[in-house]
Amino acid sequence: RGASCAYPNSDNPKRALMTQDELKEAVAAAAIEEIRPLLGSEVIIGVGTGSTADRFIDRLAALRDDFKAAVASSEATAKRLKSHGIDVVEMNFAGTVPVYVDGADEINPRLEMIKGGGAALTREKIVAACAQRFVCIADASKRVDVLGDFPLPVEVIPMARSYVARELVKLGATPVYREGVVTDNGNQILDCYEFMIEDPVAMEARINAIVGVVTNGLFAARGADVLLLGGPQGVERFE
Ligand code: 5RP
Repeated sequence: RGASCAYPNSDNPKRALMTQDELKEAVAAAAIEEIRPLLGSEVIIGVGTGSTADRFIDRLAALRDDFKAAVASSEATAKRLKSHGIDVVEMNFAGTVPVYVDGADEINPRLEMIKGGGAALTREKIVAACAQRFVCIADASKRVDVLGDFPLPVEVIPMARSYVARELVKLGATPVYREGVVTDNGNQILDCYEFMIEDPVAMEARINAIVGVVTNGLFAARGADVLLLGGPQGVERFE
């Protein structure tokens, strides 16, 4: 992991003026080129959640006759896919999918991520687990050396929220209840502030071992396989 190559549009003279929205559009377009060779009449694609994933979905619409269906990592994504006439199938009926495309809140040079800013972390992790290839699409603001500046989301069973919060404090985090948010699975979110994560694989396992935790937003045991990162140099590809 770590090798990079620039995408063909990297010599765009307007690149220095690109807004974050334009960077998201650029990585969404690059993701379409990334998955195009994998498409086929029997292929089911995994699709993520968030504003970057939404741009990918909107571009995927033009290819809807070139693949069978999609699995969605959230109700919002399922709705958007369907609004474009893309069939959505349940993960249980899809088996292994060849590729999963999703955004991230932070990503490090090892392609480990924090995800779940949109509260979809559990379903995202399930689709990622079922995918042969995880393609992360992100603008350059998401790239960090050490994960943790973005508060790490933890999905909890509601009755365990206070207990889990106390256990997270013991690990050094400052957990804050994301009030008013109920996940697609009917659960709640604790966001861990002031929590820099030196060993994401170990911390992912440690938090998941707390009783009452559904999962946490560290995608380290199963990180991304490819990162398409939009920045001043255009879209760079890392794997
Ligand atoms: C949702 C996620 C998203 O992938 C993450 O929050 C990035 O979102 P955006 O593309 O809007 O910045 O994990 O749960």
